[in-house]
Amino acid sequence: MPASSACFPFFLLLLQLLPLPEAWGAGTDPLRPFDLLYADGVRAYFSGDWPRAAELLQRSLHSHARLLGARRGCQRGCQDEARFGAGRAPPPGSWETGFFERVLLRAECLEECLGRQLGGQPSLHRASPEIQRDFQQREPYNYLQVAFFKLKRLDEAVSSAHTFFVANPQHLQMREDIEKYHRMAGVKAESFRDLEALPHWVAYEAGVHHYSQDDYQQAVVKLEESLREGLQALEDCRALCEGPQNEEEEKEEEAQLGLYEAIAAHYIQVLKCRQECILGIATKPGRVSSTEDFVPSHFDLLQFAYDKVGNHAAAAECAATYLLFFPSDEGMLGKLKRFQAEIGEEATVTARKAIRLYVQRSLLEKKLIYYAVEHLGESFNDPESWTPEEIIPESIKEKYKEDQEKQHVKTPDMGHQGQREPLPFEGITITMDSQQLNGSQRVVLDRVLTESECKDILRLAEAAGGTGDGYRGRRSPHTPHERFEGLTVLKALKLAEEGAVNWRDAKLLLQASEKSRKIVESYFTPGRDLHFSFTHLVCRTAAEGEQDGRMDLSHPVHADNCLLDPEGNTCWKEPPAYVYRDYSAILYLNDDFQGGNLFFTETDAVTVTAQVRPKCGRLVAFSSGGENPHGVWAVTRGRRCAIALWYTLSPEHAEQERAPAEELMRQKEKEQESSQPDDKGKAGPGYSDRDSPEPPVPKGRARSHSQRTRADLGSGVQSTRLRARDEF
Ligand SMILES: *[C@@H]1O[C@H](CO)[C@@H](O)[C@H](O)[C@H]1NC(C)=O
Repeated sequence: MPASSACFPFFLLLLQLLPLPEAWGAGTDPLRPFDLLYADGVRAYFSGDWPRAAELLQRSLHSHARLLGARRGCQRGCQDEARFGAGRAPPPGSWETGFFERVLLRAECLEECLGRQLGGQPSLHRASPEIQRDFQQREPYNYLQVAFFKLKRLDEAVSSAHTFFVANPQHLQMREDIEKYHRMAGVKAESFRDLEALPHWVAYEAGVHHYSQDDYQQAVVKLEESLREGLQALEDCRALCEGPQNEEEEKEEEAQLGLYEAIAAHYIQVLKCRQECILGIATKPGRVSSTEDFVPSHFDLLQFAYDKVGNHAAAAECAATYLLFFPSDEGMLGKLKRFQAEIGEEATVTARKAIRLYVQRSLLEKKLIYYAVEHLGESFNDPESWTPEEIIPESIKEKYKEDQEKQHVKTPDMGHQGQREPLPFEGITITMDSQQLNGSQRVVLDRVLTESECKDILRLAEAAGGTGDGYRGRRSPHTPHERFEGLTVLKALKLAEEGAVNWRDAKLLLQASEKSRKIVESYFTPGRDLHFSFTHLVCRTAAEGEQDGRMDLSHPVHADNCLLDPEGNTCWKEPPAYVYRDYSAILYLNDDFQGGNLFFTETDAVTVTAQVRPKCGRLVAFSSGGENPHGVWAVTRGRRCAIALWYTLSPEHAEQERAPAEELMRQKEKEQESSQPDDKGKAGPGYSDRDSPEPPVPKGRARSHSQRTRADLGSGVQSTRLRARDEF
């Protein structure tokens, strides 16, 4: 077995788990190219030859693993400068011949090494980009699970299914298959294992889990392991960057270039590939976004954990190491001082050598890349946030800053703001702020609607529910025990136009949502425009006779703009979540029902930290991110109605329906003006200050809104259940 394959996890697992045909074991036999094995395997699969399909597909995975292992091993082996003329006098003449002598020797070393490892021509193992992508996305396991299932090799079928699903969590068919396997008799829990599990992710998630459970002893062990494995995986990834390029286009372009231009272009590609390796390492399989500052964040967690277990020397070392990335981080500088005091001023504290080298190497590479960006028209998306400003050329700093701001600065931190703008409406009270709600960026306000306004909107919900116009109560998408009705603003106005609902009630819905928007804007984003993202009048009605001992939730725990991830202890801001939603609010209309409380949870998404009882005129608003996981308890009797509101700071994601709805209302109002006066029973509800002749009166004193913040480990419940959802 080639030594280098030790770093390739699934190869080892396969060796342990699968019976290997004799031919595989012998290192010197020519390795059959994985793409040919794969093609044959897929062919066998489609002809229903399951034993052959299973064997060939496994062999293709094995061949692929060995190829990558060989490449990594050879690249590492041939790096050894000592073998290439160390101790020899530099050749006379230009530096060019000296440089290329080394290049040639290294190329020869690589060819020879790969030929030896693979037992044949290395060029035979160059597969098409499509097939490489299939392997990256674990597609062979998709076929394998079916083949194993047909062969009644259940354990292997389940582990193949699970391995595929980990990397493809959006795959609906596989999700169903996995659920079927879970229900199937004779399937063991241990079968659900990831055959290609990345050791550093397994350790990282375990470490973060222990950390969040305050088990710092175990956290230290696992985080150190994750760091070690992660850095190893990073080296493996970097080694493969030197591998053959497949981009046909790039090749063609390079062929047009002269020697030095072509070498420069190729070399910069390799450097960029190496720099981007961190993204792959910091990305959980199946996710598209990576964990930010993966390496430095280890040291942030570690310094804290070491301190907790009383190892101040290690805590100091980790703090110093963290500062390699962020040298002016004041919090960490303060901690380092404290740790230094603990261990005595005479003790020397140094950052870890491996990390110092890592940072140095990374900076050298970045400098070269930025040089090429500035002078050779290259582009570069720096994957790391710690890159010091001085190495970024002035010309691209501006753009870089803009991008960073777009990515990072989302909302002003209320905790530091002290004074808050007064609410733009009279009579509204702040009932609970973030602190009282045991979280951050949360608020409960009361008296946003009067009782009679609630009644009118409820009547609208009822009428709409009865129109049979696509809004007939259907079963709740989240629980079979409730009926669910929903109505959008535009739909409400259209129904009013058709005469199906009272025109004034529809207008009230529009006004109530606008009033809520103004309140949330002034409370959370003063000075910035908050746009509607989606508005939905929703009712949930408990179904009769199905309520005994209900334990289900009316709406499972979720966050509004990201996908909660329990194992990763984070919230992924990526589709299918509504990533552009920044604030969420619910305006309640009634309280004559049982159950149905809104609740927020701790970062684990199961520990309830705060509950809010709905009632008419109560507005609950909160930021839409992972800091606010929430759910709704089952409605066990009666009907719970509310206006669910989502807002965004980006105008390009503003609700499309809003403008036509408002236009429709303006038209109607014009009509009414020109015709006889409308049946204005009551005076207008006095919502929209825009319409009122008096400017809104500033009201009340601002309260302080201190926030509880903690190392944001995010939160989660079972990720398989988590999808962005549209109703509260
Ligand atoms: C906040 O936490 C405290 C202490 O656990 C609890 O008594 C209180 O009810 C919580 N607040 C809300 C709004 O649920």
